[in-house]
Formats: sequence, C-alpha cells, structure tokens
Amino acid sequence: MRVLVTGGAGYIGSVIAARLSAQGHEVAVYDDLSRGHAAAVPAGATLVRGDICDEETLAAALRGVGARAIVHMAALAEVAESVSHPERYAEVNVAGTAAVLRAARATGVDRLVFSSTAAVYGDPGHVPIVEDDPLAPTNPYGETKLTAERLLRGVASHVATVALRYFNACGADAGLGEDHDPETHLVPLALRAAADGTPFRIFGNDYPTADGTCVRDYVHVADLADAHILALERLPDLPPALNLGTGTGDSVLAVLDTVEQVTGRALRRVAAPRRPGDPPLLVAANDQARRTLGWSPRRSLSDAVRDAWEWMRTHPRGYAEDPAR
Ligand code: UFG
Repeated sequence: MRVLVTGGAGYIGSVIAARLSAQGHEVAVYDDLSRGHAAAVPAGATLVRGDICDEETLAAALRGVGARAIVHMAALAEVAESVSHPERYAEVNVAGTAAVLRAARATGVDRLVFSSTAAVYGDPGHVPIVEDDPLAPTNPYGETKLTAERLLRGVASHVATVALRYFNACGADAGLGEDHDPETHLVPLALRAAADGTPFRIFGNDYPTADGTCVRDYVHVADLADAHILALERLPDLPPALNLGTGTGDSVLAVLDTVEQVTGRALRRVAAPRRPGDPPLLVAANDQARRTLGWSPRRSLSDAVRDAWEWMRTHPRGYAEDPAR
C-alpha cells in the first residue's frame, strides 16, 4: 500500500508509520511538528511538513506518495486544553478533518482510517462500553472527535472509512515512545516518578470502584498500530466505528503496582483531589474489533509498562536528545 499518515510524527502515529514501513508499505508522514517530533518519523518514510487545514499541501503530499489510503491521526488530544481553548480543537480536529476529506476526494483516495477516542462516549456509567452506546462527550476534545466521525459519513460514497476509538494508549515500540509537553498521562508520569523519586499524585481515591481509584483500559501502542493496518486492509468491509481496548480494566493503583514491579522502585504515592471530568470507569467491549478486523490485543499492561520504561531509560530527555536518531 501507499499510505499518508497525518500526525505521523506523534506518539501513536509514529508507531503506525514505523510498522507500516517495516511491513514494506510506502509511507509518507504529514505533520506540522507542533506537537510531534521529526525524530519520531521512521527512516523509511518521507516527512511532509504542513498544516492539517491546508488542503493544497495535503493533496500534493497524497499525489507525491501516490497514496490511495490515509491514516488520519493529526489532532489535538488534551482534554484540559480543549476546555480552555475549544476553538483550537474545532480548527484542528474538525476543520482539519474536513480538509483531509476534501484532499482525499480530489486525489482519488478510497480508504481512510480515522483516529477517534473513548472520549466520544463521555461517562457512560457502565462497562464494558459497546459501539452502540450513547455518544455523549463531556468536553470539547470528545465533541470535536465525534463531529469529525460524523463528517466521515459525508464521503461514504467515494471513500471507505472507519473510526477507531482508542481507550488508554500506552507503551513504546520500535524505538518510539511517548513524549508530550506537558505530559499528563498516567504511565509516563508514574515512570518519571519512579525514575526520579518525586511524589506521584493519585487523582481521587473515593470513586465507586473496587479500590476507590479510576479504572481504565490500557492498550499497548503496538497493538493499536496493528489494528490500523488491519483496518486499511479490510476496508470497505467494516462498521463505521470500532472500539480499540483490551476489554480489561485496571485501576490507578493497579498501574502503580505494575510500575513498581517493572522498575523495582517504590513510588511515593500521595492522595490528591479528583481531576475534574474523570469518569470512574472506562473499559472497552472489543468484540466487534476482534470479529471484523481479526484483531486481538497481544500485549499486557506489564508489557506496556516495561516497554515504556525501557524507552524512558534510553531517552531520558525524550526526543530532545535522541541518541539513536
Ligand atoms: N492519573 C492520576 N495521576 C496523574 C495522572 C493521571 O491519578 O498524575 C489518573 C487519572 O485521574 C485517570 C487515570 O490516571 O484516572 C488515567 O489518566 P490519563 O490522563 O492517563 O488518561 P485518561 O483516561 O484521562 O485519558 C485518556 C486519553 C484521552 C481521552 C480519554 C478518554 O489520554 O485522550 O482517555 O476519556 F480523551
């Protein structure tokens, strides 16, 4: 396949680009490097630097690689930022997706895999979450991803699409890891606390869960990437949206226990207030992805924590001073 990966210099996009490239596909990465890292673009892929709303440059990038398929990852993805700057999220996540769809139409692309999120469900109040559950996002990030999912339907007659709704991505793969600024995610923050001995804040210990902390479905980034490649191969024979999660929930305390086991270091755990907007429980039903993609997540939470720890130890300053690149 010849594939354009928008946002392919970001955490999940770079792993998708690397795995596609390693399987012999021709890959171009389209990224403005506002959040991504040039050093994360795999050696075998070409990087086109451009704005996601710039339809002309997108079309030129698609023609340049002769792409018939797009993995559209370019997005803003911080819940708190989406609350303080909703207009940025409308611009990048909604207008950007519209520009990608117009460029796809103009260049004869016939398949598009879209990066969506469990945030489209909001706080469903039950687990596991199925794709037919009500879509009720509780923040502009989830709202804009849901609007973008709906835009995909407008091109259904000429571009086959699927929205993949990720649960909690974590881990590292192929020398590529998580390097956000600021970092807000549990696994990298807990590993950082293990590395430097600083306290780790647990946001809420009075939730209605078994140990009082929030439960999430942590899925290894390499398993996520594999699902995208399968989706590219299986389109158009896919439903409009699929959950990507393991089907297993782990509490914040369970993740911290795993971090301690993997690193061999004790964390300094401190109780902190709840983080506004955190639903108590988010766990995927992944039966549809298993059935329609032939996908099954192969890596455990321990695998993800071990791989992320290894990446952090070999990249103590993230991509800022990557010794391997
Ligand atoms: N947490 C802490 N301390 C921290 C960081 C996180 O206790 O320092 C807790 C959070 O409160 C939450 C859990 O760890 O209960 C996981 O938090 P993350 O920030 O790692 O992930 P979220 O579940 O909040 O967010 C993920 C994606 C978002 C997506 C959301 C869908 O990262 O992009 O799921 O609800 F929107």
